[in-house]
Amino acid sequence: MAELDAELHVQHLSHSFGPHEILRDISFNLKEGHVISVVGPSGGGKTTLLHLCAGFLDVEEGKVTNTFNKHAFAFQETRLLPWQTTLDNIAFGLKAQGMRKQQRYHLATEIALRFGLEKKDLSKFPKDLSGGMRQRVSFARALVIEPQLLFLDEPFSALDIGLKQELQQILIQLISDGRLTVFFITHDLMEAVRLSDQIIVLDVDPGRVAHTFTIEKPQQERDDAYVYAETAKLLANPVIIKTFELSIASSRNKPDKGAAA
Ligand SMILES: Nc1ncnc2c1ncn2[C@@H]1O[C@H](COP(=O)(O)OP(=O)(O)OP(=O)(O)O)[C@@H](O)[C@H]1O
Ligand SMILES: [Mg+2]
Repeated sequence: MAELDAELHVQHLSHSFGPHEILRDISFNLKEGHVISVVGPSGGGKTTLLHLCAGFLDVEEGKVTNTFNKHAFAFQETRLLPWQTTLDNIAFGLKAQGMRKQQRYHLATEIALRFGLEKKDLSKFPKDLSGGMRQRVSFARALVIEPQLLFLDEPFSALDIGLKQELQQILIQLISDGRLTVFFITHDLMEAVRLSDQIIVLDVDPGRVAHTFTIEKPQQERDDAYVYAETAKLLANPVIIKTFELSIASSRNKPDKGAAA
């Protein structure tokens, strides 16, 4: 069975916009049921990498092989259709699959309620929803089609802690059930530690893999204390300090030299 597992395989991927080299020689293999996060400073090419993997941008150098049947996306900006109701926005992907109206409304309603929306929200237009509600809609729209692979580009960064944890728990449940593979871009190391099997640290100018950290403990067994402790360890790691230019803060905390060790 293992040999037939789907994967997102990236080999020696490089990318430039005009004369600007953005990504250099990126390789990784995202296996079915796993979560890979990419963290790194702003402008390092994380979104560009996701766009190349998801097929939004043409691959010019290197290779991207995606053998997952169905994938979906959620982004920081929710990209909802302003002229469609909550229900129609969530059901959008099901309509594209040719599902009948009654069935798609049924599934969309079910997932909307599971994601904390209320019945009265379903007929509202995006402009009449709060930012957090729009994020719920965006997540519901991505997951209602039951994707095998989910591309996430900082979907939690504008959310309050409670909602962030709630949506993360939904993801962790799906991952633990073996129903979801995630390619996840984030600025938030703690979020990466909570969700990922591997964390790729992307350095800038050009974007390249500085280091890949592996977390063995299953997501469901990572409690807050574990996540805080592992995040603290990462923040003290020389690769992270160098990539995020944390050296000043780090040396301020330590009276003697050699703080990065
Ligand atoms: N379509 C484009 N044309 C030209 N340059 C682009 C294009 N898209 C992105 N860039 C440039 O590529 C670089 C990487 O951008 P990208 O959005 O991938 O970074 P990022 O790591 O996602 O940053 P952030 O963390 O701020 O979201 C930036 O210098 C950006 O200006
Ligand atoms: Mg980005």
